[in-house]
Amino acid sequence: MGSRGGTGRPEKVMRAALAAIAIVLLAPDAGAAGGAYKETAHGDKEQGVRRQRGVTPGACSHCHSRPIGAVRGSGEMTLFAPNDNTLCFTCHAETRGSFTGRARFSRSAHGLETGLAWPGPEPRARPTTDGGKCLNCHDPHGVRDGAGVIPDMLRLRGEALCLGCHGGGRGSKDVGAAFRQPYHHPLTGGQGPATSTLRSTGLATAGAPAAAGCSACHNPHVEAVAATQRRAPAPPPSLQGVAHVRVTSGAPGSEPSTVPVPADDATPAAEHEVCFGCHAKVTARGGGSGARLSVAAQFNPANASFHPVLAQARSTDLDRAAFANGWTADRQVYCSDCHSGDDGRVRGPHGSSYEHILKKRYPTVRGEKMVANDLCFDCHAFKTYGDPAGGAAVDRSRFPGHASHVARGDGCFVCHESHGAATQPTLIALRTPGITSFKPDMQGGSCTVSCHRTAPPSAKYRTSLRR
Ligand code: HEC
Ligand code: HEC
Ligand code: HEC
Ligand code: HEC
Ligand code: HEC
Ligand code: HEC
Ligand code: HEC
Ligand code: HEC
Ligand code: HEC
Repeated sequence: MGSRGGTGRPEKVMRAALAAIAIVLLAPDAGAAGGAYKETAHGDKEQGVRRQRGVTPGACSHCHSRPIGAVRGSGEMTLFAPNDNTLCFTCHAETRGSFTGRARFSRSAHGLETGLAWPGPEPRARPTTDGGKCLNCHDPHGVRDGAGVIPDMLRLRGEALCLGCHGGGRGSKDVGAAFRQPYHHPLTGGQGPATSTLRSTGLATAGAPAAAGCSACHNPHVEAVAATQRRAPAPPPSLQGVAHVRVTSGAPGSEPSTVPVPADDATPAAEHEVCFGCHAKVTARGGGSGARLSVAAQFNPANASFHPVLAQARSTDLDRAAFANGWTADRQVYCSDCHSGDDGRVRGPHGSSYEHILKKRYPTVRGEKMVANDLCFDCHAFKTYGDPAGGAAVDRSRFPGHASHVARGDGCFVCHESHGAATQPTLIALRTPGITSFKPDMQGGSCTVSCHRTAPPSAKYRTSLRR
């Protein structure tokens, strides 16, 4: 603390008195600290805050340079800088873990002054002018709750913090509602260890908790609002800055090899690179469900067929009119084009009322009839693939039996894989009941099937496609 004037005796006494008051005010258990400060990264006696020379690391006075201000009745502690992000940037300009520096934060959705500040009620609401501040999420003194000191000096634990603003009715979309749907990514339940394990190891930790807290897919210091309609495979802005994997595909049907990429890597991450952080064999977690959840091999572009997530489809000559909603054969798809909330409002695979977190209904049981609003018809024309009254539209597919089968209750699932097929063309699924073998030829193709009550159990078709 700078001493300017002379140090006459009365002044010294006065100073001592003020210092005593300051000590009470700044006692680690006082005021905002709530008793957590000593256990936080800021309060650490060796590694804690350091700004002034000769002052012990962790001392309050590194930030409250003139505690005397508080006594004079301003009601606030005197900080060494205005109470905004520049104060934090004094020491946090550079990358530290998921905080990837001042420049990226200032461009992020949370760094921009959006007017949406912490809405309260617990901890208490901040003024709307605080939009964009670190203080919406962090308390520089740390917070202690029933379970101990909250990690990362956050104001609330785990997703409770995020849902405070993204839980609906607060000026932002209701992501919380998606997580209350019957099928959802498991959250950390506020326990939060998933976050830190993910961060330090790049996801691939055997035995790590089977949870995907918000931070498994989003970095609150980096992610940005998508300015334009997203289109695969462009890296989604809101998934940037999270630990993910880089994928190299091998022989058909094989698992890709994956290399962990840390949060602070600046190369834009594709969506599937975030998903494969947990949904590839080497990274899959969740105990028994691990194997089932590993889907990476199904998207291998060396496979005989695949939905075009990792690469464009091999044959892109299919009639535009066989697609719906502007989709075309040469476009790629995101995982979240199929796995997303079903209310049509919040993007992303947070949760859905449909099994497998699907955006729309997808019947997988024979006899459950498909309707025009089902998942596949989001991109493939209902008139071609599902509607026997589709007329000429039915002829836009190579297989003339689509609409008739589908209308009977033999949905796409009976004949097709959803992700990819290592050995079969056209996503043909070999399953029972269903197709047991398939062979396309120039005129059409032939199938052996377990559904038809004919002998031999085979069917030949002539393509209806006119070339
Ligand atoms: C890293 C910087 C930093 C350190 C170290 C720090 N503070 Fe603060 N303090 C702040 C900031 C920033 C605010 C304003 C907080 C806000 O607006 O919510 C603040 C506000 C306060 C307030 C006002 C109460 C409130 O919630 O508005 C008190 C009291 C306080 N600090 C006490 C302390 C004490 C005691 C210590 C040491 C045990 C300490 N501070 C250490 C940055 C710091
Ligand atoms: C005077 C320097 C200083 C200021 C100002 C400062 N910090 Fe820190 N902060 C530190 C140091 C030192 C650490 C521990 C660094 C380390 O271990 O690398 C730290 C760590 C952190 C951490 C990591 C917590 C953890 O548990 O690992 C967060 C979060 C953080 N600071 C947020 C803030 C925020 C928000 C502000 C502004 C209100 C702020 N800091 C202001 C010096 C400062
Ligand atoms: C929208 C909420 C939010 C805002 C705003 C925010 N943070 Fe964080 N911060 C978090 C969360 C959550 C974590 C815990 C790690 C994670 O989930 O990525 C964290 C972790 C950190 C860490 C520790 C990183 C590590 O991996 O060890 C630092 C340092 C940090 N924040 C600094 C800041 C600073 C400085 C600001 C403002 C410039 C800021 N944060 C703004 C939510 C936020
Ligand atoms: C203080 C309120 C607040 C908190 C807390 C908060 N956010 Fe946000 N977040 C916002 C605002 C404001 C935006 C800007 C866009 C909007 O209004 O949805 C935003 C945007 C986002 C976006 C980009 C959305 C898009 O349109 O692409 C993501 C992703 C996000 N937040 C995730 C998180 C996560 C994860 C956490 C917890 C670590 C979190 N948020 C905590 C206020 C908050
Ligand atoms: C941090 C790890 C993690 C990440 C990253 C992750 N997931 Fe998951 N995912 C899980 C876990 C754990 C489950 C739930 C498993 C269970 O309930 O048995 C799950 C479940 C799912 C399911 C439902 C599977 C079913 O039928 O039960 C889908 C679909 C899914 N994830 C898609 C995605 C997509 C798309 C992404 C990328 C945007 C992604 N996941 C990223 C861990 C993760
Ligand atoms: C074209 C739509 C579509 C795309 C794109 C898609 N999925 Fe799926 N996914 C489905 C359907 C439909 C199911 C459920 C039926 C099935 O298992 O075949 C499913 C099932 C799953 C399951 C559960 C697997 C199981 O056996 O229980 C996981 C996990 C999953 N998807 C993850 C992903 C990931 C990760 C991506 C991106 C790399 C992705 N999906 C891309 C449609 C899609
Ligand atoms: C398994 C990965 C995963 C998890 C876990 C996850 N998200 Fe998302 N989130 C996504 C994806 C993927 C998107 C869509 C990104 C895109 O394409 O722009 C998304 C989009 C969002 C958006 C923008 C929605 C819109 O329609 O504009 C917000 C806000 C958001 N997430 C917040 C959260 C919050 C809060 C949590 C935790 C409660 C969370 N997310 C957990 C993957 C995830
Ligand atoms: C988000 C859009 C989208 C959705 C939803 C979608 N598809 Fe596709 N599908 C495509 C695109 C793009 C292609 C690539 C076209 C090609 O292969 O020529 C494709 C290709 C296919 C192919 C041909 C693959 C090949 O190698 O020839 C089949 C079969 C298929 N989809 C079935 C389905 C089924 C079944 C569903 C529902 C589970 C579905 N699709 C949902 C976009 C979608
Ligand atoms: C009875 C079995 C069967 C059912 C049910 C079925 N398909 Fe197919 N589908 C095929 C066969 C066989 C081919 C391959 C045609 C060829 O290449 O000669 C095919 C090809 C396709 C193609 C590739 C492009 C084309 O049309 O030639 C798409 C896309 C497709 N199906 C989508 C769907 C969708 C969407 C559904 C559900 C609405 C569905 N299929 C239901 C058997 C089926």
